[in-house]
Amino acid sequence: MPTQPSYTRVAKIAGHLAPAPTSATAQVETGEGVVNDPGFSGSYAGNYKIRDLSLAARGRKELLMAEVEMPGLMNCRKEFGASKPLAGARVMGSLHMTVQTAVLMETLHHLGADVRWATCNIFSTQDEAAAACVAAKSAAVYAWKGQTVQEYWECMDAVITWKDGEGMDIIVDDGGDVTLLIHEGFAAEQKFAKDPSYRTDVKGADNEEFACVLATINKSLEKDPTRFTRMVKRLVGVSEETTTGVHRLQVMAKEGSLLFPAINVNDSVTKSKFDNLYGTRHSLPDGLMRATDVMIAGKMAVVGGYGDVGKGSAAAMKACGARVVVTEIDPICALQACMEGYTVLTVEDVVEVADIFVTTTGNRDIITIDHMKKMKHNAIVANVGHFDLEIDVEGLYKAGFKKSELKPQTDIFTNPETGTDVIVLAEGRLMNLGCATGHPSFVMSNSFTNQVLAQLDLWANRNTGKYSNQVYLLSKELDEKVARLHLDACGAKLTRLTDVQADYIGVSKDGPYKQPLYRY
Ligand SMILES: NC(=O)c1ccc[n+]([C@@H]2O[C@H](COP(=O)([O-])OP(=O)(O)OC[C@H]3O[C@@H](n4cnc5c(N)ncnc54)[C@H](O)[C@@H]3O)[C@@H](O)[C@H]2O)c1
Repeated sequence: MPTQPSYTRVAKIAGHLAPAPTSATAQVETGEGVVNDPGFSGSYAGNYKIRDLSLAARGRKELLMAEVEMPGLMNCRKEFGASKPLAGARVMGSLHMTVQTAVLMETLHHLGADVRWATCNIFSTQDEAAAACVAAKSAAVYAWKGQTVQEYWECMDAVITWKDGEGMDIIVDDGGDVTLLIHEGFAAEQKFAKDPSYRTDVKGADNEEFACVLATINKSLEKDPTRFTRMVKRLVGVSEETTTGVHRLQVMAKEGSLLFPAINVNDSVTKSKFDNLYGTRHSLPDGLMRATDVMIAGKMAVVGGYGDVGKGSAAAMKACGARVVVTEIDPICALQACMEGYTVLTVEDVVEVADIFVTTTGNRDIITIDHMKKMKHNAIVANVGHFDLEIDVEGLYKAGFKKSELKPQTDIFTNPETGTDVIVLAEGRLMNLGCATGHPSFVMSNSFTNQVLAQLDLWANRNTGKYSNQVYLLSKELDEKVARLHLDACGAKLTRLTDVQADYIGVSKDGPYKQPLYRY
């Protein structure tokens, strides 16, 4: 039997348990009541733990700019703000603590929610955005750029408990980490209830990150052994942001182990066909350029995976003038790539000649150590899939590659046998957020308007029985509404169906305009 359930992830870089280079110099501000060390598990931890509160003024300016670019979120404030539909709701988020997310957090706050937030990636926080929210008291925040993995889980643990020792009503999750923590914590408490000597098997965890999760739970068992159980009882549901988190939820729903309802925000058309595609098309080259400033034109770029994120990545590399090679396992996606004029090959076919490798699969072991040993000097290896499993960075350490940091989130690994260098971005984690600032505001407004609508629906239906412990999509009406809210900003003018036309194609003049199976 594996020691961990199938929905858990494996993070492989042992080095993350030591302080990350950036946090060695971090001046971490602590809020009222924060217990700094060795972690806060199991009880209320105060209002914030961020890098530098004095960044708030700059953060606020960035938020004000972002608000103009986020018409969907600002419309939610206008449409629902007066009635405060989230009054009384405790909302906890685990999602990249960026400027765009701050606008989401403040929208939820505007609608009446009591908000606590952690990031979902150790490198993705924009410290000025965290500071702006803390200064405005719009949310309690535990996040800074360059956390260690241990700090990451401590922060996650800190935001799930309010001052009265109880948990949240609704979760905004990205990648499923907080959902994982609650499920693991709940399972441990069930065992503890039968045997108070029970502790999770930290040493038995087959990777360091999961060991952090289990250690966090053990501290919680000692302080408050029914904390997660009460949390699950109170929880109305989760709205999940990304492909990988949705996969985890679907596994749990299928196994019958999902403990609360979930809304799959990722598969709203206005999320995955926009954020994953056009967002990545913008933020991937941004990350590559900020990290390396290498000329992309004329280079060979390999894009692993041709799903939504892969399509955006390949389009960006092509637009920059790269020769693009796509790798795929799915014949339909492979054929789509061919139709767009890309060459479809395997990593092995091009590993010795390609210049830039970008993984986008949401899968694991796409770029292995054997691949990296064969790469040409200064090949760049970067991942934009959610977790750091796509590139075997740990394998580089094990194989004796010597690491030298060019700057935070840009590392050069020298092959001990050949002397050639491989440039690794963001240690194999999401490089568009680690080396740049993620997707721009306008596309995130689409994603986050879906998040707000999901939160509103979960809360409004907390006692109606609409949702059971399954994974749900938002309606097509709401999806179309999200798109509609963003058209004016693009100067677009919609054509209105005539009665005859609507009747002829069998739809209402006011939508939905497509059947559920339509693929866009
Ligand atoms: N970086 C970001 O800002 C960002 C934004 C959205 C989503 N994501 C993440 O990116 C990942 C991909 O998301 P998506 O929506 O494109 O998913 P997707 O399912 O649409 O695409 C993944 C593709 O990878 C292919 N694939 C799987 N294993 C492969 C392998 N071994 N070799 C080659 N191809 C393989 C699949 O066939 C699929 O076409 C997920 O982890 C998601 O959570 C990241």
